[in-house]
Amino acid sequence: MEATIRTTILDIQKMKQRGERFAMVTAYDYTAAQLADRAGIPLLLVGDSLGMVMLGHSTTVPVTVDDMVHHAAAVVRGSTKALVVADLPFLSYPDAGRAIDAAARLMQQAGAQAVKLEGGVAVAPTVRRLVDLGIPVMGHLGFTPQSVHQIGLRVQGRSAAAATQLLADAQALEEAGAFAVVLELVPMSLAAVVSRRLSIPTIGIGAGAGCDGQVQVWHDLLGLYDDMQPRHAKRYAELGKVIEAALRSYAAEVRDGSFPTAAHGTDMKAETLSAVLGAADHTTT
Ligand code: KIV
Repeated sequence: MEATIRTTILDIQKMKQRGERFAMVTAYDYTAAQLADRAGIPLLLVGDSLGMVMLGHSTTVPVTVDDMVHHAAAVVRGSTKALVVADLPFLSYPDAGRAIDAAARLMQQAGAQAVKLEGGVAVAPTVRRLVDLGIPVMGHLGFTPQSVHQIGLRVQGRSAAAATQLLADAQALEEAGAFAVVLELVPMSLAAVVSRRLSIPTIGIGAGAGCDGQVQVWHDLLGLYDDMQPRHAKRYAELGKVIEAALRSYAAEVRDGSFPTAAHGTDMKAETLSAVLGAADHTTT
């Protein structure tokens, strides 16, 4: 049985009360989860961004609950300390009943501790229902990638009407019982106001330092892609280049015969082999 040492939603709410900022990062597999856990990242997001960065789709729209369960389970197996939040993918929460079914799979089959969904006032009744059933819910406002075909990939909440709506959405999520809200591509000053007005933590991505926490996508943070460099991301490493160089060296050493060496294998006693070959058909040597 797993010891209950993971970060809890109460822990991150206390961090907000103490004014402590915290980091969240996406993780989609066992190895990434282990590394992030070792680095002390308290919150892991199994984002439906996996549709793009892991599965090669151009949006998050094709991602299914099955995809999310598969990846979330690996992240849960790879971590012991972080709170694992898994996205409810596109069209998996058109009503509370369907949302409960999807959340049940993510929590019971995959072992996630919380779910995230996109939207504000419109999804507040669903959030309320999930929370009443004991499912921790994280909201997601601003640029909501599942609606990319409606809203385009751009900063949200710039006009007076959009900013007013965003404030109302954030309030509705808090009142419905969400434990935190992601603010993606929201003007920094607006995100700071939302963060001050809400008692639950805000987690920004492209929303400035006024948020209580920050979330970044694994591949952006670690420089795994050359052709994807969103403005809101900071590359803390150039792992794409490191990995490519390592793979080139490996292939070159296989070609020139310098890999493998005797150190990379095990052998058997020469007498044993001779005895076998003496008894067997010599054409197989
Ligand atoms: O799916 C995802 O990775 C996300 C983050 C960008 C917040 O929702």
